[in-house]
Amino acid sequence: MGGTIVVPKGRSQMKGMIIYTSKYGSTKQYAEWLGEDTGFPVRDLKDVKVKDLNDVDIIVFGGWVLASKIQGSSWLKKNWNNIKTKKVTVFSTSGAQPTNELTVKFLESSFPPEIREKIAYFPLRGRVDLEKLNLLDSNMMKIASKLFRDDPLVNEMAKGIDGVRRDALDVLFEHIQSLL
Ligand SMILES: Cc1cc2nc3c(=O)[nH]c(=O)nc-3n(C[C@H](O)[C@H](O)[C@H](O)COP(=O)(O)O)c2cc1C
Repeated sequence: MGGTIVVPKGRSQMKGMIIYTSKYGSTKQYAEWLGEDTGFPVRDLKDVKVKDLNDVDIIVFGGWVLASKIQGSSWLKKNWNNIKTKKVTVFSTSGAQPTNELTVKFLESSFPPEIREKIAYFPLRGRVDLEKLNLLDSNMMKIASKLFRDDPLVNEMAKGIDGVRRDALDVLFEHIQSLL
């Protein structure tokens, strides 16, 4: 797919919105690629008001993982009453690979069962660019790599990771098409 397929205009009356929260840009990058592929508007979570979602049928929410929790999940939980009638897809970006069983924990520590059973979840790999980390995050990485020196993921993150690939969105895009 590689971002070349755009949902044909007029094929569906469904309205969608892509909402993301991103600190260093990888989640934003995935959200923007999805926006190009689907034609859905892309919004930073901090600019979204619940009333903006009134006529939206499909919400794609992307958040990065900090200490095993999907950022922005609190917003989704807080507004779940207004959102639960919509088709909700969540993606996360993390240092962990999508195949890592930790990603199941990310979902479990971010959402209660009644929300988990209503959403589709796609873990994606993000980016840790050591040169871009602020002082606090850089120190957190250093401390984690000392405390958990036997943890392969911590060791990988401490060296830097770039797992952002457009084709990682193929399966998510197919899922969105199946909702239309
Ligand atoms: C302070 C900090 C804590 C993180 N904690 C985790 C974590 O617990 N598990 C994980 O897999 N990745 C973790 N990561 C990696 C981020 O989830 C990853 O870099 C993500 O792609 C960042 O998204 P962004 O570029 O949109 O800000 C952490 C990164 C930082 C900077």
